[in-house]
Amino acid sequence: MYDKIQLPYSYDALEPYIDAETVNIHYNKHLQTYVNNLNKILEGYDDLVNKYTLKELLFNIEKVPKRIRQDVINQGGGVYNHNLYFSILSPNPTKCPTGKFLNEINKAFGSFDKLKKNLTEASIKQFGSGYGCLVKDKHGKLMIMKTPNQNCPLNEKLIPILMIDVWEHAYYLKYKNLRQNYVENIWNVIDWAKVEEYYNK
Ligand SMILES: [Fe+2]
Repeated sequence: MYDKIQLPYSYDALEPYIDAETVNIHYNKHLQTYVNNLNKILEGYDDLVNKYTLKELLFNIEKVPKRIRQDVINQGGGVYNHNLYFSILSPNPTKCPTGKFLNEINKAFGSFDKLKKNLTEASIKQFGSGYGCLVKDKHGKLMIMKTPNQNCPLNEKLIPILMIDVWEHAYYLKYKNLRQNYVENIWNVIDWAKVEEYYNK
């Protein structure tokens, strides 16, 4: 069985940037549905479930039998991506990366501000549902990408360390059609200590 993370803050903790009703529905309804669907799809595939963490399963997606592979990409990505998204948000975020991680950011993007600008742009420009992502490759090189639907960068052998959910369910109650405002505001609650922890893992 794969599961969602425990939400490390209360539903209203990210106000005013992300409203309590959105966090509640997003976490308890949307994410839970992905969890339920994924576990249903994997009934009878105990060999996979016992052998792999969800991260490993998505990273080794070619090991998943073809007849359920796309469903695992969709539903497993839905679980993994949301767990990552919720885990890097915080009401008391560390506002800047440090150390080796900051050096890598400067090397890849020129500056921390440039990284935020590029990732904001990628998130806004993702056509339809999906995510703006900061990923690292196996050498630790950082890249920005966007992914449609629930596709996870792990499927492309890239490790996501920050994902911004730009499905309408992530912002519509508060921001309506204004995805740009949501993405610009989300920087207020992104915890760079957590992102840095994922980079160093
Ligand atoms: Fe979502």
